[in-house]
Amino acid sequence: MTAQPITRLTIRRPDDWHLHLRDGAMLEAVLPHSAEHFGRAIIMPNLVPPVVTAEQAAAYRDRILKALPEGKSFKPLMTLYLTENTDPADVARAHADGIATAVKLYPAGATTNSASGVRDFDKVRPVLEKMAEIGMPLCVHGEVTDSDIDIFDREAVFIDRVLRPIRKKVPELKVVMEHVTTADAVDYVRDSSKNLAATITTHHLIINRNHILAGGIKPHFYCLPVAKREKHRIALVQAAVSGDKRFFLGTDSAPHTDPAKLQPCGCAGIYTSINTMSCLAEVFEAAGALKELEAFTSLNGPRYYGLPVNEETITLVKGDPVAYPTTIETGVGPLTVFDPGFPLHWRVEA
Ligand code: DOR
Ligand code: ZN
Repeated sequence: MTAQPITRLTIRRPDDWHLHLRDGAMLEAVLPHSAEHFGRAIIMPNLVPPVVTAEQAAAYRDRILKALPEGKSFKPLMTLYLTENTDPADVARAHADGIATAVKLYPAGATTNSASGVRDFDKVRPVLEKMAEIGMPLCVHGEVTDSDIDIFDREAVFIDRVLRPIRKKVPELKVVMEHVTTADAVDYVRDSSKNLAATITTHHLIINRNHILAGGIKPHFYCLPVAKREKHRIALVQAAVSGDKRFFLGTDSAPHTDPAKLQPCGCAGIYTSINTMSCLAEVFEAAGALKELEAFTSLNGPRYYGLPVNEETITLVKGDPVAYPTTIETGVGPLTVFDPGFPLHWRVEA
């Protein structure tokens, strides 16, 4: 007897372990989309100016909670932006007071608003040692910024030049390699015995570099780390659907208005908060792994972060293609939604 195809799937409410919410009018426009499906999210601190101190993180958390639509129970898990001047005591206090869940490491110049990031990794060693001592995770943007390193190699080179040495010097530090894009990163995570996990975005499971560059340049597919060759995308899908507890969802949904993206030097970032769960259901179904979706979106992340899984559930239902907006009007301009390039048959039941 052949198994009936799955058309309905109830899973624990998912969390987003890497999210950009911005501030002000953009925050108000995008927060409802995340709060609709997700229970919690790790909130990236790359505002202008960045969220560096416990005090700034608490104030940003309060602005997020204020912008939350009535009746939604979304919990922002705040991060501190690591600089060479970060005070280990401030980080420890933020963690103990429940203000900050993690610290974010941006190599200086790696991406949007990363100018205050780290140049000399030895300078932040005292902070990393303190974090290892208190069990606070470090979220890492894993790309070197050297102009002589090809942009498609920057993640793999970062692993060898920066991440391996840091993890050797501070082995008890709990690291999350954010938005991995290469088979090299997948292998590196798989080969480690502890204190290493990785988030994978929705869009990196769907697009490769051809989607950005073949047949005309597509600014809405441009993000950092940039999507790589198809063999890397396949490695990411295999990791995501494998059930391996070290891989979990971090959408890296990163809203920029169309005018900010569509210009001679356009911003990096893809906006997926609104259709991520539908996209993921398609990816997991195509891989014959719908049963592993819950581990990826709802179980592996809390497990690594040492948090309980969400009590509530959501139900995904397969049917006619779902309609979702291609553009969202925000108070600061139009925002284009990620187009996966195929119809989405899975919707989250209201
Ligand atoms: O594409 C990206 N956009 N990658 C990042 O690392 C940052 C993000 C943003 O903040 O726009
Ligand atoms: Zn990001």
